Amino acid sequence: MIITIDGPAASGKSTIAKKVAKKLNYHLIGTGLMYRAAALQALLENIDITQKDQIKELIKRLQVSLSFSWEDGVERVLVNGVDVTKKLSTPEVDAYVSDVAKISDVREMMVERQRKLAKQGDVVVEGRDIGTVVLPDADIKFYVTASTKERARRRCAELAAKGHICDKQELEQDIMKRDKIDSTRKLSPLSKAKDAYPIDTTGKTIEEVVIQIMAIIKEKK
Ligand code: CDP
Repeated sequence: MIITIDGPAASGKSTIAKKVAKKLNYHLIGTGLMYRAAALQALLENIDITQKDQIKELIKRLQVSLSFSWEDGVERVLVNGVDVTKKLSTPEVDAYVSDVAKISDVREMMVERQRKLAKQGDVVVEGRDIGTVVLPDADIKFYVTASTKERARRRCAELAAKGHICDKQELEQDIMKRDKIDSTRKLSPLSKAKDAYPIDTTGKTIEEVVIQIMAIIKEKK
């Protein structure tokens, strides 16, 4: 069984997907982490993302160096065998990732990887274009949203908990900017699959949303 959860930045989908995967005892594939790993490498290597040759080289290297593992059902991202998961959710990567994720060569490689990983079956796959482009034949699809204000509030709390300074208004602008890049890019933009269940998480707790999603899954299983 393949379950997809798509939605915009900080809509709560990663946390929800983690909990749903745990309840079902499925593997979680967080596709945003893959694009974040590419963005982190580009930042570390000072790669100019407008230079196609440099991006092609980066992808070649990532094809060899990037790997994934699961700890207690939760995905970890490794570059050359080193777990970099913690380095992927920083304001620097946040600011860069959407520009890297819109490059066609990057998407091609990542989508191929995502399909391969999903073939294991019994997975929850979370991202932007999973129900529409990566796994259009998935068994159950969800599209999770929340108001921009609420998303900024949540992401701020997340960053503050990790010790980062956070300006809510600035973050709201950043989220809107990322949404715009994600939903207007030519290649597999962020959009709701026709057959996805819409879930608005504004004003709801994570637990409430997980209960709602689990009820739909139970009904369809
Ligand atoms: O957690 P958050 O919603 O902030 O982001 P994420 O799910 O980790 O994804 C980070 C970025 O990767 C997104 O803003 C997209 O630019 C890109 N992404 C994508 O293009 N396609 C996906 N399937 C997943 C992420």
